[in-house]
Amino acid sequence: MQKPSPTLLTFGDLAYQTFSFSHDHMPTLPSTIARYGRAAAALAGVLLLAGCDKINFWRMDGHQSTIVVDGPVAREQLDLFIITCWVSLVIFIVVGAVLAYATFKFRARSEADEHAAPPEQSHGNPLIELSLIVASVLALVVIAIPTVKGIWNTYDVPEAERKDAYEVTATGYQWWFKFEYKSETAMSDSKGGKTPLITANELVVPAGRAIRIHLRTYDVIHSFWVPKLGGKVDMIPNRANILYLKADKPGYFWGQCAEYCGDSHAVMRFRVIALDKKEFAEWLEQQAQLARTVAPAIAATAPRGQVAALRKFRENEAGITAAYDTEPLKAWRAKQDPEKNEDAALIAQGREVFKKNSCINCHTVRGHDGGGVTGPDLTHFGSRTTLAGGLLENDATQLRRWIHDPLAVKPGNKMHFGFVDKDGKSTMAGYRKTEGTGKGWTPNITLTADDEVALVAYLHSLK
Ligand code: CUA
Repeated sequence: MQKPSPTLLTFGDLAYQTFSFSHDHMPTLPSTIARYGRAAAALAGVLLLAGCDKINFWRMDGHQSTIVVDGPVAREQLDLFIITCWVSLVIFIVVGAVLAYATFKFRARSEADEHAAPPEQSHGNPLIELSLIVASVLALVVIAIPTVKGIWNTYDVPEAERKDAYEVTATGYQWWFKFEYKSETAMSDSKGGKTPLITANELVVPAGRAIRIHLRTYDVIHSFWVPKLGGKVDMIPNRANILYLKADKPGYFWGQCAEYCGDSHAVMRFRVIALDKKEFAEWLEQQAQLARTVAPAIAATAPRGQVAALRKFRENEAGITAAYDTEPLKAWRAKQDPEKNEDAALIAQGREVFKKNSCINCHTVRGHDGGGVTGPDLTHFGSRTTLAGGLLENDATQLRRWIHDPLAVKPGNKMHFGFVDKDGKSTMAGYRKTEGTGKGWTPNITLTADDEVALVAYLHSLK
């Protein structure tokens, strides 16, 4: 087979010639077919990328984008990334150009060139070597100055804003987040008792104001990350970390645990909802109240659950609707109002299911029966847009999916397994319990379809 011309500038033939050169013994496709093949592959790639339109691929504005940001901390970090990219691009172009020039200029032009002895080797050029060292140091200085400035500026709330900063405490649990508003007081019972306000998985904050978050963990190392608002900081046992964030304006932001923390790390999510001053004050006032009571007493006509056919879900199938996906803040506002067509008797029945099973051992519902603190506080659960650690949208379908079989949604979760001591015995049972090492798991909570429907109605009434 004839050797191809060494002209590397015929771009379209580059790949074909490289291959036919090194595989002389192999049959190769005619160049026109190869060329059409490459064009078709490129077109297919473009079409595939166009399919990503749903997450605004071209604008790089997905829910967890670090490129389209909404706060000063994330913006400073993005600027640093862009500076690093520019410096890298300049280095790439300079090195690439020198390499391309040398490759082309000193290529083998004839059979004799290919077998010629290598040129005499020297110890290099001191001027070039010194210039390269100086250029490298300069490139690092260009990156280092904004880096150090950025670390200084984003580590904590700037001095000028410190007094006005809003403080909250975020605690990571396997696999959900607890948010404590220690400066806010909530009612703990109907006799005038007070407690700090506690919520879970949705951190509601004032927009346009510095948020100083104290990061804690209950168990292993987690990491708190809201990509559109700022970089991540770890939640480390026995270490008090802080994180500073600020949202430019009201908005709804996706957060994610960013440190591997066990089976369900990937689905350990949360949300940050930033509200203007007035709406935030209204939210605080609402959250300070005891849980809503829709029906004071159990209706006589139990059971009333509509036995709906439970959809079979594929494991971890994305549990969100398009309406929520496109306008999450609107969906969040809608969740603050009572559900339409509330059925007081069904809600009372659900409250009884919650009380009779082990739910109250782990979950607090202020003013109702639950007082446990090992699971998320559910006092105003119905006003949240998400459940199961920000994984599923908080609608009737997804809530029922969760309480029907938590293990299928979130591997290893404590709602299913409860807490087990070193001898394998359940100290606090979940859906399953065990009597000790090697005894195996036995059912502890068994919900009928009626129970599930009633429980969904009750939990959704908690606004
Ligand atoms: Cu918590 Cu990963």
